[in-house]
Parts: sequence; structure tokens; C-alpha cells
Amino acid sequence: MFKYHYIFEKNSLILTVGILIAVAIGGLVELVPNFYLKSTIEKVEGMRPYTPLELAGRNIYIREGCYLCHSQMIRTLRDEVERYGHYSLAAESMYDHPFQWGSKRTGPDLARVGGKYSDEWHKQHLIDPRSVSPASIMPGYPFLATTRLNDADMADHLKVNAMLGVPYDEEMVEAARADLRAQANPDAADDIDGFEARYPKAVARDFDGDPATVTEMDALIAYLQMLGTLVDFDLYDDKADVNLR
Ligand code: HEC
Repeated sequence: MFKYHYIFEKNSLILTVGILIAVAIGGLVELVPNFYLKSTIEKVEGMRPYTPLELAGRNIYIREGCYLCHSQMIRTLRDEVERYGHYSLAAESMYDHPFQWGSKRTGPDLARVGGKYSDEWHKQHLIDPRSVSPASIMPGYPFLATTRLNDADMADHLKVNAMLGVPYDEEMVEAARADLRAQANPDAADDIDGFEARYPKAVARDFDGDPATVTEMDALIAYLQMLGTLVDFDLYDDKADVNLR
């Protein structure tokens, strides 16, 4: 078998072609089986699509480039789990188009920031980070508090996500704008029960302290406050802890 090996060793072009063929076979063996898997994501209880207000907040998060400084992916390493909480599950970003795992942490990971601070803290922090976190190098986003949220195309955002596989049904698309307003100002909403039925566990309240206007601040805080809160890890802990003991 090794009798003709010198052909490869003496001619770099043939060696290169040989390497390419070997790597291609290796690549195929790794990749092809994935196309025959039904799903690579294990289903997890509690996951639901974003509410229209949270989705609008997510769009602002992307627009402002928050992902350039913040990741949303807690790795299975002990230091990360102790600092941020349970490591991220694939299912927790299954409705994210595009995902926000990020590749850089200038600031902390945000995958489980929901419920960590009050709405008022987030508002202060986003308007002027150094007013609550003196050594912060995060830029301020004061205009979010005064910019009315443009929700005219909310139904279209849901439709596009539905095309990408997020289970928004027609009722959700139709109610998108009403649901967005209902979540930011539940006291004035006509159909708050419908909203709660469509989005279980969604928190409806005035997020920015100004119930009269739905601002971009409302949307972004609604999004931040739900991050990492959907899955109840008490249900899974027996299984999930195994890697960390
Ligand atoms: C230039 C990098 C940078 C950008 C851009 C940035 N941040 Fe930050 N962020 C930081 C740093 C650094 C901290 C830690 C200090 C602090 O609390 O301000 C932080 C902290 C935070 C915290 C508190 C996290 C915690 O667990 O204490 C939140 C929430 C947050 N940022 C949200 C955002 C949002 C939303 C955006 C986009 C609108 C954003 N950040 C953009 C750098 C950044």
C-alpha cells in the first residue's frame, strides 16, 4: 500500500489534491448525518415565541448593536454558571432570528438578565450607565426614553418570523399591534386576557414609568426583563446538574 507513497511526497501538487480529497471525505462524514436528523434541538417546556413588544425590543437591541458588547450564551463552565446562572440550552434561542449568542463580552452576558434588576434600574442605566454603575464604559441611550415606538409594521415582523419557523399563528399576527400596546399599558387594554392566553407567562406592565406613550425604552426593557426567564430549571435540574458536579 505504501509502495506508491513517494508519488505524493515528491510532487506538491498531487499532495495538495490528495489532502483536499482526504479533507473533503472527513468533512462529508461530519456534515452529512446532520441533514438526516429530524431536529438538533431538544424541546424544553416553557419556551414561547416573543411577544410583539419583546420582539420590537429585540429589534432595537440589534439596531443599537448591543450584541457587539454583550453575549447571550452561558457556557457550561463552572465560573460562568456561578456568575450568570444555568448554562444556556439550545432551545432557549430556538425562536431567535438571528441568534444573539455574540462573540465578545465587553459587558456581562445577558442571557439571564431578566428579573435581575428593576425596570427603573434598567431605565436609569440605559439613559446614563454611569449613574448606576460608576465605572461603566457602556454608552448611554437616552433617546430611547423619548422616542415613540414605531409599531406600524409589527404584524409584518411576526409574519417574517413565522416564515422562518416561529409558531406565530394568524390570530397572533392580526393582534400584533393590539398585543404590543396591551403589554406596555395593561390598564388601558381591551383584550388583556387574549394577550395572556397567546403569550403564557408574559409580563404586562408599564416598563418605563410613562403609561401614556409606548416608547422604545418600554420595548427594550420588556425584552431585557424576559431574557432567560421562560424555562423553569427546577423541572430539569436533576438531569442538568450532572455535568457540573
Ligand atoms: C461599548 C460596549 C457596550 C455596548 C455597546 C452596550 N453595553 Fe451594556 N454594558 C457594557 C458594560 C461594560 C457593562 C458593565 C457595566 C455596567 O453595568 O454598565 C454593561 C452592562 C449592561 C447591563 C447590566 C448587566 C448586568 O448583569 O449587570 C445591561 C442590562 C446592559 N449592559 C444592556 C445593554 C443594552 C440593552 C445595550 C444596547 C442598547 C448595551 N448594553 C450596549 C458595555 C456595553
